[in-house]
Amino acid sequence: MSFNLEGRTAIVTGGGRGIGKAIAFRLAQAGANVAIASRKIENLEATASEFASLPGKTIPLACHVGRADHLENLARETESRLGPVDILVNNSATNIGQGPSLNVTDEMFAKMMEINVLSAFRLIRLVAPRMIERNSGSIINIVSIAGIRPQTEGLLYSMSKAALIMMTRSLALEFGKHNVRVNAIAPGLIKTDFSEFFWKNEEHVKRVESSQPLPRIGLPEELGGIALYLASDESSFVTGQTFVVDGGATAR
Ligand SMILES: NC(=O)c1ccc[n+]([C@@H]2O[C@H](COP(=O)([O-])OP(=O)(O)OC[C@H]3O[C@@H](n4cnc5c(N)ncnc54)[C@H](OP(=O)(O)O)[C@@H]3O)[C@@H](O)[C@H]2O)c1
Repeated sequence: MSFNLEGRTAIVTGGGRGIGKAIAFRLAQAGANVAIASRKIENLEATASEFASLPGKTIPLACHVGRADHLENLARETESRLGPVDILVNNSATNIGQGPSLNVTDEMFAKMMEINVLSAFRLIRLVAPRMIERNSGSIINIVSIAGIRPQTEGLLYSMSKAALIMMTRSLALEFGKHNVRVNAIAPGLIKTDFSEFFWKNEEHVKRVESSQPLPRIGLPEELGGIALYLASDESSFVTGQTFVVDGGATAR
């Protein structure tokens, strides 16, 4: 057993900043060659040069996860430049349509499902066959505690993350016999661009500080260790699970 990822290939969507960047860092530090992918190539390039001295290679690949052709290109380019994918981290997500649920339009609904749910499934459909063929692989879906416990006026986000949790469990049942593991990580409130609406709101921060067992907002780096564990052979008997990293927010 080992946390060593030398010789392994990983894809981390949204790996240029926030939680995805922290995960990509830990994977490359453990020796994996990592393709980081999102829309803004400048971010990805900056991250890749920041990671240049790590044992694993980091390559930036532009990809809008809502575009099937971009995902196909991501899978193809990663395999041709780094080899077959051993580790897939579906981390990119968006959040629109926050507010009263009756204001949610068909377009918002479709976009949230496409970016947060369908994109992960499409990428799994592109890389899992090769994992199955090679009898080895680890798929990690980044979900949210909002997918376990609904957020007020966050219908689409909560639904999309709940769907991803069930996708994780369903695929774990199918892929287990091929030694391909599928797990999810559910962060609580983590300080990134994505969540600034919450951590810039003093009232919200006070609520966290007065009610959460670990009374502070989490940092992206605090998600890296669990991702490394799930990517590595150390978690060889773990599949179909959702690991909550939320400072204890959902403990009560
Ligand atoms: N922060 C939190 O409190 C929190 C809590 C629970 C769960 N999460 C989950 O953690 C994951 C990462 O979020 P984060 O907090 O690290 O946010 P972040 O720093 O804003 O990162 C979001 C990432 O997603 C990428 N992305 C967004 N839309 C995309 C698209 N259409 N195609 C490709 N990439 C796209 C962004 O890159 P580009 O802009 O370059 O495309 C960015 O790298 C998400 O799944 C989020 O739901 C976050």
